[in-house]
Amino acid sequence: MKLHYSAASPYVRKVRVVIHELGLEDRIERIEGAVTPIALNKTLAADNPVAKVPTLVTDDGVALYDSRVITEYLDSLHDGRKLFPEAGPARWTVLRRQALADGILDAGVTSRYETFLRPEALRWEEWIAGQKGKMSRGLDALEGEAGDLGDAADMATIAIGCALEYMDFRFAEDDWRRGRPKLAAWLEGFAGRASMRETQPEG
Ligand code: BEZ
Repeated sequence: MKLHYSAASPYVRKVRVVIHELGLEDRIERIEGAVTPIALNKTLAADNPVAKVPTLVTDDGVALYDSRVITEYLDSLHDGRKLFPEAGPARWTVLRRQALADGILDAGVTSRYETFLRPEALRWEEWIAGQKGKMSRGLDALEGEAGDLGDAADMATIAIGCALEYMDFRFAEDDWRRGRPKLAAWLEGFAGRASMRETQPEG
């Protein structure tokens, strides 16, 4: 399988953590390439018309995207304990928590683009504040659920761990741990997993 990849992308990181948790490293070839909304990566666009990472090309030549689809596909390749519960309330809880973590990431990434990529004269402060509000309310909701997250890796805890460490990577000055002691304590344990330690973002 081939994975279109960027070492800074938190969505790619979700996939990398899953690959590590499932022991699939030897089956994945990485294709690294620059990806920004303003410069088309043609190699990537050949496999994914919206030219986003992560994109996975399976051994059968099928291109899969985005991170939610890829991680569920990878989870289908083994018979062990599933990262996505197969049915019932546990599945909806994992999917909702993944969506919450991804929502925090979406707000973080769009806010990062607004401040890092967009020329200063074109920045829209109210819009950035709106994204920061989404991040803050999402993190508050996770603080409320921190006691239920547990130590095991599933698709919710992986997505939440990646979202929180993206906050550390790009928004350290916002100090998300302030006022969220349960979530901070939860991450301290979860971040010690080999899959998290060995997939730290770079760039
Ligand atoms: C980042 O550099 O923060 C980033 C890179 C790729 C995708 C999303 C975010």
